[in-house]
Amino acid sequence: MKKYLLVLLVFLCLQTYAQQSINLSSPDGNIQLSAGLYAGGELSYSITYKNRPVILPSGLSMKFKEPDVELKQFTLQAIDSSSHDETWKTVWGEYSSIRDLHKELKLTLQDKNGSGILMNLIFRVFNEGVGFRYEFPDQEKLDHFVLADERSQFHLTGDHKTFWIPGDYDTNEFTYYTTKLSEVDASGGATAQEIHAKTFFDKNAMQTPLMMKTADGLYINIHEAALVNYPAMNVVVDKASFTLNAHLVPDAVGNKAYLQTPAKTPWRTIIVSDKATEIIAANRMILNLNEPSKVVDPSFIAPQKYVGIWWEMHVGKSSWDYAGGQVGSQQTSKVPHGATTENTKRYIDFAAKHGFKGVLVEGWNTGWEDWFGKWKENVFDFVTPYPDYDVAELSRYAKEKGVKIIMHHETSGSVTNYERWMDTAYRFMNNYGMNAVKSGYVGRIIPRGEHHDGQWMVRHYERAAKKTADYHINVNMHESVRLTGLHRTYPNWIASEAARGNEFNAWSSGNPPEHEVILPFTRLMGGPMDYTPGIFQIKLNVYDPNKKEQIHTTIAKQLALYITMYSPLQMAADLPENYEKHLNAFQFIKDVAVEWDDTNILSAEPGDYLTVARKEKGSPNWFIGAITDEQARTTTGSLSFLDAGKNYVATIYRDAADADWEKNPHAYTIEKFIVDNKTALKLKLAPGGGAAVSIMPVGTTNIKGIKKYK
Ligand code: NOJ
Ligand code: CA
Repeated sequence: MKKYLLVLLVFLCLQTYAQQSINLSSPDGNIQLSAGLYAGGELSYSITYKNRPVILPSGLSMKFKEPDVELKQFTLQAIDSSSHDETWKTVWGEYSSIRDLHKELKLTLQDKNGSGILMNLIFRVFNEGVGFRYEFPDQEKLDHFVLADERSQFHLTGDHKTFWIPGDYDTNEFTYYTTKLSEVDASGGATAQEIHAKTFFDKNAMQTPLMMKTADGLYINIHEAALVNYPAMNVVVDKASFTLNAHLVPDAVGNKAYLQTPAKTPWRTIIVSDKATEIIAANRMILNLNEPSKVVDPSFIAPQKYVGIWWEMHVGKSSWDYAGGQVGSQQTSKVPHGATTENTKRYIDFAAKHGFKGVLVEGWNTGWEDWFGKWKENVFDFVTPYPDYDVAELSRYAKEKGVKIIMHHETSGSVTNYERWMDTAYRFMNNYGMNAVKSGYVGRIIPRGEHHDGQWMVRHYERAAKKTADYHINVNMHESVRLTGLHRTYPNWIASEAARGNEFNAWSSGNPPEHEVILPFTRLMGGPMDYTPGIFQIKLNVYDPNKKEQIHTTIAKQLALYITMYSPLQMAADLPENYEKHLNAFQFIKDVAVEWDDTNILSAEPGDYLTVARKEKGSPNWFIGAITDEQARTTTGSLSFLDAGKNYVATIYRDAADADWEKNPHAYTIEKFIVDNKTALKLKLAPGGGAAVSIMPVGTTNIKGIKKYK
């Protein structure tokens, strides 16, 4: 960390609102942060981008329950600043290395009203945006304390267009609303039928990452980074002033956090740009605000594509439980048990044949009869298989075929029970050669009264990430709190769901075509999502003539999602028999990488479209994904990122001319062309459609009869 003496612009009474204010600009000068104290000692900060206001003067204060103090007026004890420029290597990610270039400002503050409590406020200003956090240093006047409220504000400049999901303490599995801030009404979340545990609290509340666009074309994203030992933040909009007020998830008695000095809050992040493409690329700022990896030897960390006994339960073809009553839509009609030894071998064979590393098996263990809707504590023990599932034989068979079985730990929200079993369950995995687990937290949490996004659960998720690392296990959490870049610190926490995944298309009103062009600007800003793409059988009445559901997509769009929905863990979610019908399109899923050296966001508009190009890690291959909402579009992608003077073969998987997510979702075309760095690809996307392209150097692939792209 290079410290230097910044020429601090400390104005005394220069601005009408502030007594003392300090300005700090981003390294490129585009962003200006102004932070300071009013005459009464109240804290305030504001942000501009290219001289346009982004955050108007906004308040920052804290209320404790124990000791009973409100920290809202301060004296400024010291000002420190420093600048940082460091490039670090990722274990996996969208980039093989990331530059962390920022300036930091630290205000050392003391409560003006008698308690004498010390608090620091830290700002970091990047070219992409601003992060700030509160710190409570080691001090005589404060040791243990109970937080009643964090009162961070984000005072916006107007009635921005906003992409939002309802604020909630327990779930993030909503579809997105696109409205003006003045039109936000989160009460629809309370009535969402298909979500099992939800806790509505305010009709003006929204979750982060929150994506906004101003009338004059600025894109603003508000989220948090490094959520550790603290509850998640929702924001509640005050429609009179367009101010977002932080609202932390409480526990059963209304307390927000139990802390001990030295303590620090997560970073609050404000990313801003006049280009939508730059917002997505700025998810690196969130990573930069997280601690470096704590996993000393990352050699067990395994980015991968996987298949699994999973979709068949969601579409109602087989069940999780032994007796056959538990399927995706919770019907009670009997279907065969999915996780049998025989069926698992079928998936292992398929994975081995097509080069997948992992086979997820859900419903292998006893307990599923009681998992759902009961708020029961002892449901699963995570080590006892059903009688038709032979763990030892399957681990032998998987090993012989060069595949690993992915363990499944559905906790059904009973986290006390899971905590009791974690060591035993992870040892069991080690014994049977499994190095990855998908965990899940469906339903209300036990301890009763805790919430999925409260401090208690945030601590549990971190504990699970640490403990799985100790056992050399990769973990993928479903129904967890939304991500805040912590996968930099725990890269074995390889993905999470924490949003509405593809599974909702199997048994609910589903995800509208725009869902996947909003998620990269919202949920994915915090980290990778196990969205489970790759559904080829889009109309679901093949499983049951009465089943009206379908995926709101075309096949080509399902392929594109492997690029646009970044994750180092990607499922090929459909059934082997459905892939066997379309092996030529399946080739893209087989070829596509999950680890990248570089990423270029070629075009983007939240809610409308997204085109992304990524270079495979340690390989000259590139892959492109382009997706649209319900509108047909043509997107042009320049291939200028390819090596000059080299020819490549581009294989384009696109919607057929008459494709349409609703009327003709299965129609696709595959073409091959010779391309180079001067090529501009024109990709036609059907309504609800997409296109996927693999680009490999000539020489690694057969070029006979392939024409130059025009
Ligand atoms: C919800 C998860 O998101 C899903 O993937 C899983 O199959 C079910 N819970 C059962 O655990
Ligand atoms: Ca889920």
